[in-house]
Amino acid sequence: MSASPEILILAGSPRAVSYTRGLARDIGRALEGQGARVRLLDLYEAPLPPLDPALRARGEDHPDPNAAELYRLAGRADAFVLATPVYHNSYSGVLKNALDYLGSEQFRYRPVGLASHGGRSTQAVDHLRQVVRSVLGVAIPTQVCTAAADYDGRPGETGCHRIVDPEILSRIEGFADELVLFARSLQGLHAAAAAERGA
Ligand SMILES: Cc1cc2nc3c(=O)[nH]c(=O)nc-3n(C[C@H](O)[C@H](O)[C@H](O)COP(=O)(O)O)c2cc1C
Repeated sequence: MSASPEILILAGSPRAVSYTRGLARDIGRALEGQGARVRLLDLYEAPLPPLDPALRARGEDHPDPNAAELYRLAGRADAFVLATPVYHNSYSGVLKNALDYLGSEQFRYRPVGLASHGGRSTQAVDHLRQVVRSVLGVAIPTQVCTAAADYDGRPGETGCHRIVDPEILSRIEGFADELVLFARSLQGLHAAAAAERGA
């Protein structure tokens, strides 16, 4: 653990040109502005094979390089962001598959920020709160839910859209501030617990 928290963003759209990727990148920039070190793992650019539960225990030695990288990044993250498109009133299948690779080993008492794209619906992030609880993560209160009208509407060179809506941009700043606050606070808690154990 370090004073400058490391935050892993999982972007869960399986599309080449994606609003969710734009949302994830804007959140990443806001987090960096708060002093966090940010890693973005985009599940379109680094797709994971369907989970083989028998290989879960291999962790960073997983035979699939993208899965091994997921374990490497998640294992050192002080906090997470889960960003997803809204699919069938919930979150995407590729994000679910990625989360099934992980568990309380990675998420235990780590803060998790939730973000989604699709009609500003909160359904996906509501469902993700239940998943985060199941892996002992701490979902922060502020969440970000966007609609297409919140973006500039033109896919950038990097295959994503940029957010232009001032209300959403302001919410992202508050979200980043809150996630870094939780990350720093829980870093202190983890350090105190380790000291008590004599680690
Ligand atoms: C299988 C599927 C299910 C979807 N279900 C919903 C939905 O329930 N509500 C909604 O607002 N949009 C829904 N959409 C639309 C997506 O949210 C929309 O295409 C969004 O732009 C996808 O995010 P992305 O641009 O990051 O890929 C669905 C799209 C797909 C492919």
